[in-house]
Amino acid sequence: MTNQPSRRRVLLGTAAAVGSTLLPSIGTAAPAASSGRFAIGDNDFLLDGKPLQIRCGEVHFARVPREYWGHRLKAIKAMGLNAVCAYLFWNYHEWREGRYDWNAQRDAAEFCRLAQAEGLWVILRPGPYACAEWEMGGLPWWLLKSPGDAFLRTRDDSFVQPARRWMKEVGRVLGPLQVTHGGPILMVQVENEYGFFGEDLEYMRVMRQALLDGGFDVPLFQCNPTNAVAKTHIPELFSVANFGSDPKRGFEELAKVQKGPLMCGEYYSGWFDTWGAPHRTGDATKAVADIEAMLAANGSFSLYMAHGGTSFGLWGGCDRPFRPDTTSYDYDAPIGEAGWIGKKFDAYRAGIGRHLQQGETLPAPPAQMPVATIPAFTLAESAPLFANLPPRVIRDVTPKPIEQYDISRGVIAYRVTLPAGPAAVLEAAKVRDLAWVYIDGKEVGTLDTRYRRFRVDLPARLKETTLEILLYTIARVNFGVEIHDRKGLHGPVTLREKGKGAEKKETTALENWEIRAIDFDADGVLPPLAWQAIKAKHKGPAFWRGSFDATAGGDTFLDMSSWGQGIVWINGRCLGRYWSIGPTQTMYLPGPWIKAGRNEVVVLDLTGPQDNRIAGLATPILDRLRPERDLARPPSTARLALQGVKPVHDGRFQPGGATQDVPFAQPASGRQLCIEALDAFDGKPFAAIAELALLGKDGKTLNQTLWTIAYASSEEASKEDGTALNAINGQNTDFWHSGYSKTVAQPPHRLVLDLGAPFEVAGLRYTPRQGPDGVTGRIRRYRVYVGDKLVVDAA
Ligand code: GLA
Repeated sequence: MTNQPSRRRVLLGTAAAVGSTLLPSIGTAAPAASSGRFAIGDNDFLLDGKPLQIRCGEVHFARVPREYWGHRLKAIKAMGLNAVCAYLFWNYHEWREGRYDWNAQRDAAEFCRLAQAEGLWVILRPGPYACAEWEMGGLPWWLLKSPGDAFLRTRDDSFVQPARRWMKEVGRVLGPLQVTHGGPILMVQVENEYGFFGEDLEYMRVMRQALLDGGFDVPLFQCNPTNAVAKTHIPELFSVANFGSDPKRGFEELAKVQKGPLMCGEYYSGWFDTWGAPHRTGDATKAVADIEAMLAANGSFSLYMAHGGTSFGLWGGCDRPFRPDTTSYDYDAPIGEAGWIGKKFDAYRAGIGRHLQQGETLPAPPAQMPVATIPAFTLAESAPLFANLPPRVIRDVTPKPIEQYDISRGVIAYRVTLPAGPAAVLEAAKVRDLAWVYIDGKEVGTLDTRYRRFRVDLPARLKETTLEILLYTIARVNFGVEIHDRKGLHGPVTLREKGKGAEKKETTALENWEIRAIDFDADGVLPPLAWQAIKAKHKGPAFWRGSFDATAGGDTFLDMSSWGQGIVWINGRCLGRYWSIGPTQTMYLPGPWIKAGRNEVVVLDLTGPQDNRIAGLATPILDRLRPERDLARPPSTARLALQGVKPVHDGRFQPGGATQDVPFAQPASGRQLCIEALDAFDGKPFAAIAELALLGKDGKTLNQTLWTIAYASSEEASKEDGTALNAINGQNTDFWHSGYSKTVAQPPHRLVLDLGAPFEVAGLRYTPRQGPDGVTGRIRRYRVYVGDKLVVDAA
């Protein structure tokens, strides 16, 4: 690393002498901050006036069984870390407006006290927005009862007022645990990676003030991806940079905006998984080299994740545009989902161990928790879903998003009378998330928000019939403006007779709906269910029940691979979602949640199992994709139609990993945009894109809520997750990558975005694949096409 700051005399004397005021420091962009015992100096964090290098690890107590908090904290300490970073997820503590819950698994104060007992400092990240692959990024769903698609994370009153109340509540519960009051909390983060989202720096000031008003008197800071540090920095907040590679550039960006210690707020040890995409891993050798480089440069860091754990219950989030995250949040972190440690942990521990402060030694890691297997048992009773819907009926002319009916999440059954008539197309304005359509009890098709498939073909009907739609909400998007993710069937729902030839037939709105819902609420509460012994193999949506006997409890992994898609409960506790498309096929069941004696297992399966048995395995299956188990998806008939289309831009990108804005000579209008990668800086035949955003005439990025990928000439979908959607999901860390594992796709590589409506495009913003210099796939020469029909449907 080049930017090794010399250990100059620090600006602050003994921190204790300066109290909790913000100190202006001469000639610096960011004033040093002090909280009494803990302060931010010019080159170092200072604890009682002495330099403290923060070696932090992220762990979300909500994702670790409470019984194991102490065990995981011990492992974190043994890996060489001296602090833990803890997000608070607002919606976890305030699922219903005004009703706060800090009990049991939600006891954040107890988690902080345990950390302190293990000799770990705490960095608190209370939001209000978190991200973290958590339902709606931690925001409560009831905020969506307010109208609008751009008020969350803004200064709009309908967001600021509830957020201020939340921060006050956090101050009440956790304020006493700040280092200034004898507790372990050293610093508190304001918001989260706001630079990825917005430009209103005044909003950051309002959120900062909310924490101050909540009684926080330790230094406050903000984190942003390397590329957004400069644009989002404000002098009132200390800045840290988030990255998974290239610490040198991250630290350089920080040094440009402030004088102060260098810190990586999130260093990615691995990455999260989404249903249907390959399991992701992180390279330990590379990570340890980066960590050691940061330590050698007197830098501080927080590992995201040190221990990922599990998104138990219904708390898993969803990546944009719509890619729900798996229940396992293993993250390929050095401490695995079940608290296991191995080679990766050892490598991290050895690397960090080479940079300990004088006199520091590392404790031995704790022993692994016992593992038990469960022989296969049968779920021999079932309760068909339609026969077990709660009696409350909501009647509405046309369906509205479920938040309007005060339904938080769950399964929702819609019913309407369908007139007799010829074959027709049924279409909803929007469907979140998956839905099955039935006529007189017979399934006729599915609606699927992943492909924005909101229509289904209906057969001709000789008489009036009943149309039913069963809708399943998976998770609200946790990233980007898409967090305004209202669930359910959005009306109007229309019927259009299938036209013969070019003839257009009239559209009629289907009206007068009956709506019934199982609202799973915060913790997956089950309604009363009428169980029956299974006689014939039942297909279709149903609850299933069975039990197993246990003597000694041990951790186990429930094998759900013979089931379809749904939710599992154990002894009334909601364990989480499963989906046999993978990559996760098992569900982590912690030993302490298993009773001695009989244990009851309930499964909701939306499609019906192949085999209604479950076994508990001794090891997890995290990396088995089974696309054949997915809902039917019409085969893609997209065909590229670039012949005769002139490029609107022909250019060369800059080398390196920085985000680049490229204006076109003339703005161009159209609904589709094609980027054509001609070659790469390393001369290899690959193309990759971390992010592609488009610029309007005002230089601002276009709203991408309606975007889909219309075409990708190839995408790597088995060796790693190189899905084209990665180019438009807002995450710099993942990327679209041209295919290479089956056959090596040759350039030119083309990616076509469908913007959902015609737009005027004046330029593009390209973020290359992140990583060290020379990383594969960085595009050099490229062309851009804009038009309405760059991709046509060949069918
Ligand atoms: C960002 C967020 C985190 C998490 C990671 C991806 O950096 O700050 O909350 O979502 O991405 O795991």
